[in-house]
Amino acid sequence: MWRATVFTLFPGMFPGPLGVSLAGEALANGIWALETRDIRAHGLGRHRAVDDTPAGGGPGMVIRADVLAASLDAGFLAGDQRPRLLLSPRGAPLTQARARSLAAASGVVLICGRFEGVDERVIDARGLEEVSIGDYVLSGGEIAAMVALDACVRLLPGVMGKEASGVEESFEAGLLEYPQFTRPREWEGREIPPVLLSGDHAKIKAWREAEALRITRERRPDLLGKDEREPAPRGAPER
Ligand code: ADE
Repeated sequence: MWRATVFTLFPGMFPGPLGVSLAGEALANGIWALETRDIRAHGLGRHRAVDDTPAGGGPGMVIRADVLAASLDAGFLAGDQRPRLLLSPRGAPLTQARARSLAAASGVVLICGRFEGVDERVIDARGLEEVSIGDYVLSGGEIAAMVALDACVRLLPGVMGKEASGVEESFEAGLLEYPQFTRPREWEGREIPPVLLSGDHAKIKAWREAEALRITRERRPDLLGKDEREPAPRGAPER
């Protein structure tokens, strides 16, 4: 069983959306397990304080190294080999390739930050790897942790049908998905592209590849190699 442990100040947020649909069914079927650890259980004093003002001044509050370390040290089984990720907008971007490698491991430990951040010393001392789900700032790591878990869980054996598993391979190959259509054949005067109804599988494949390339070029040129970023000049040989 693939095991996820989430360290958070808001354990009540879990499983949240991970309790329904594909991830929720996999959870109920024992394909994966989700455990939360309340960081506040290791808070200090009568108020169970977990944060303090930033050294050097500045806005917001910083999660204390001693509190988070106490929580982590109480939560880890000795010899736990799972990757330990701290969700943070400063982190390396979470990619489909990373989700695949996490799904192939025995599970993952996710630490959710809040406030202005986490004392740098605990990141270093406990070997936490910072991971971001995108270039925007959330109010905490919990929703980011759910995103990361969803990306991993759908890749676990037995969660998705075979049909879907090729889709991210094409993402990993660096292209966005081609457009999809279904019945009715005509809707509000708009037709399904005739090639898709032709039954010519080679032509359909070629059309889809060309559309995937066109859409990727328009929306995410950063995903393409330098030579594919611009449309081929007129008269250039077809590639
Ligand atoms: N916490 C706040 N913003 C985040 C982001 N973009 N990714 C991961 N964790 C976060």
